[in-house]
Amino acid sequence: MGVGLTYDLREAYLAQGLDEEATAEFDAPETIAAIEAVLRRRGFVPERVGGVRELAARLVDGERFGFVFNIAEGLGGVAREAQVPALLEAYGIPYTFSDPLTLALTLDKAMAKRVVRDHGIPTAPFAVVEKVEALATIALPFPLFVKPLAEGSGKGISAACHVSSSLALKEVCQALLERFNQPLLIETYLPGREFTVGLVGNGAETRVLGVMEIDLKVTAENYCYSYVNKAAYQARVGYHLVDDDEARRAASIALAAWQALRGRDGGRIDVRSDVHGEPQFLEVNPLPGLHPVHSDLVIMARLSGVDYSDLLGFIIDACLKRCGHGSHAEAAQAVGCS
Ligand SMILES: Nc1ncnc2c1ncn2[C@@H]1O[C@H](COP(=O)(O)OP(=O)(O)O)[C@@H](O)[C@H]1O
Ligand SMILES: [Mg+2]
Repeated sequence: MGVGLTYDLREAYLAQGLDEEATAEFDAPETIAAIEAVLRRRGFVPERVGGVRELAARLVDGERFGFVFNIAEGLGGVAREAQVPALLEAYGIPYTFSDPLTLALTLDKAMAKRVVRDHGIPTAPFAVVEKVEALATIALPFPLFVKPLAEGSGKGISAACHVSSSLALKEVCQALLERFNQPLLIETYLPGREFTVGLVGNGAETRVLGVMEIDLKVTAENYCYSYVNKAAYQARVGYHLVDDDEARRAASIALAAWQALRGRDGGRIDVRSDVHGEPQFLEVNPLPGLHPVHSDLVIMARLSGVDYSDLLGFIIDACLKRCGHGSHAEAAQAVGCS
């Protein structure tokens, strides 16, 4: 039995006619190749599968895997990230990263914020709207920040998401509702420092890999770590590992949120400070981007002295341990891959 690799390839969807932004969450061929190379180096026999439909066909055909390294984002629906894990659970096959409950919950940023808030973890006040008419009922003070409820990779995020008037709020909501055809999250704008926190491990054994500050340079688009800022990060964004008092508070919020949301194996949590310098939970990335060069978690690991292979090693080891295998070698043997 090999180790399955599930993913959604960006170029496959571009070929079907979807545009650059619509496919921003999907993966590049070099990401699949890099994960495959690490699996091979660690004694596993990787098998490229693809997305949920390819996986379904192969499972129905009788194929099985020792475990699956899953980074499939899925194309549609509120459970798009949960589809591959749910299917694997139906066949009793272990897989990396979070379970269907966590993946479906956290894709909806408002639902995730409600659970986080219920655990006493700070997160900005917010509202969800499905149509512009509902804006009249919103009592949050300006400035506000508007974003699609269930996207990632900076989709829909630009300087226009920061609004200081009812007119600007209405305009951006109209544009985003039309473009993304999904509800919008409206939050108090957090003007403070921004951090992304890398986490690896499970439950009480989860550890913070590092806290990386996202520092927008003068060349960057204003207000946020937007789609275009991320795309041109070399010129627009400074990434620094930080360990001051505010950064440590960001780390403890991220760790608490990760445990509250039952994140597994590895991921990233975005945090930004309010006007008083108090870090607030923004969102969780339970399927963190794993591009070998430009994904945030990979950049952070690199700054911490952890190379790509070791980062994936932490994730794989956490997964195998969670599934009841003690050491890596033992696991490789147990899942029949070496
Ligand atoms: N309430 C907010 N206040 C200030 N900036 C925000 C707020 N929400 C999001 N942002 C900015 O927008 C960026 C993208 O938002 P995020 O929810 O992390 O979306 P994505 O899933 O696309 O990464 C954040 O990294 C941050 O710079
Ligand atoms: Mg984010």
